[in-house]
Amino acid sequence: MNHFEPIDGELACEGVLLSDIAQAVGTPVYVYSSATLERHYNVLRQALAAEGLKGENGGEALIAFAVKANSNLAVLKVLAQQGAGADTVSEGEIRRALAAGIPAHKIVFSGVGKTASELAFALKAGVSEINVESEPEIHLASQVAQSLGTRAVIAIRVNPDVSAGGHAKIATGKADNKFGVSFSEAERLYAQASNNAGLRPVGITCHIGSQITDLAPMATAFSKMKGLVQRLRGEGLAVERLDLGGGLGAPYFNQPTPPSPADYAQMIAQTMGDLDVAYSFEPGRMIAANAGILLSQVLHIHRRPEGRQFAVLDAAMNDLIRPAMYDAYHDIKPVLVRQGPMETYDVVGPICETGDTFTRERDLPPLEAGDLVAFLSAGAYGAVMSSQYNSRLLVPEVLVRGDQFAVVRPRPTYEAMLDQDVVPDWL
Ligand code: LLP
Repeated sequence: MNHFEPIDGELACEGVLLSDIAQAVGTPVYVYSSATLERHYNVLRQALAAEGLKGENGGEALIAFAVKANSNLAVLKVLAQQGAGADTVSEGEIRRALAAGIPAHKIVFSGVGKTASELAFALKAGVSEINVESEPEIHLASQVAQSLGTRAVIAIRVNPDVSAGGHAKIATGKADNKFGVSFSEAERLYAQASNNAGLRPVGITCHIGSQITDLAPMATAFSKMKGLVQRLRGEGLAVERLDLGGGLGAPYFNQPTPPSPADYAQMIAQTMGDLDVAYSFEPGRMIAANAGILLSQVLHIHRRPEGRQFAVLDAAMNDLIRPAMYDAYHDIKPVLVRQGPMETYDVVGPICETGDTFTRERDLPPLEAGDLVAFLSAGAYGAVMSSQYNSRLLVPEVLVRGDQFAVVRPRPTYEAMLDQDVVPDWL
């Protein structure tokens, strides 16, 4: 469920008409619903609690929101206020999580290629855990920790070698993907790390992909993870934590429906049985995707006499790259639905390449120049993946709570955009 519903026939976010936001901020603009963010976080939290999946010291399991999905400070603060932690993959993301009020002890630092200075930053900040992905990275974490006179708390990322379906560009759990180490390597490295003065291995972690709509591959991967915990313990090694990553799909209109958080939690509880570990999770999309839309205006309807109709928008692939990059489907809704039979449109942006096509031959209510349209399910991997391609201004972001809204990232000015470049004085 989300909070983008019509009020008197006009699409709104919570209690705010999208047309009011367009008027105040202009388009294109991302709009986020804080109530939806809170709801999705709490649905997962309650599902995990209902199945007895606990965190450290018998408390709640850690839900570390994957900051890569949406890193706006205001969005992170909404989640921080609900008790969320953060899964981060760069110093920048750690800084964002801290700035939004997420305590270091709820921050996980993941990623295949952390630099020495990022590791040092994370250690000084006191993050809860560094998820290491390869042997050289383990050595680097140890070296950096020892140079700081500390021990790095690590979890080893395992690549369970299962195929979770979904788009090839976002699958991560097969042995030929760059992520993590094999089970046998994890066993060897965990034992090695336990005898390393710069490391304190506390657990293992996996993440097999994104927009997963089938529980079976997750169950397979998680049961292999359980086996590894048991083998490590059998060798006398302490395994306190198990981080099961993110990946649970969000319902995108017209796409396979993902399992509910309750089914997901039940599958985990059944797979793990009475394994005594502190659980953590790294969901991004299931929390943020349906909590955001991209609001855009139709610039022209270009009707070819031969028949094809193009709805040319003021939003482009630089604002929402998912359709161009992953052939992703986003539902498109006019803010005010015009009466009349459905029409077939190619919905495109103004950028000078054919890839700047949001969808082809989509049946939509009739559109005219000046109409506002919303791309739904755009709260995850939307604004974070935007760019200035074609020297278009970076898309702004708005957060709604009830009947109030605020610009949480302003649209830059052209002067600010030009000021980013430096022309050397010898030119
Ligand atoms: N943890 C790790 C280690 C990850 O690599 C990811 C996502 C997540 C958690 C969160 O996964 P989620 O719950 O959001 O599925 N840009 C792509 C998605 C890339 C996902 C990368 N990793 C898209 O727009 O579909």
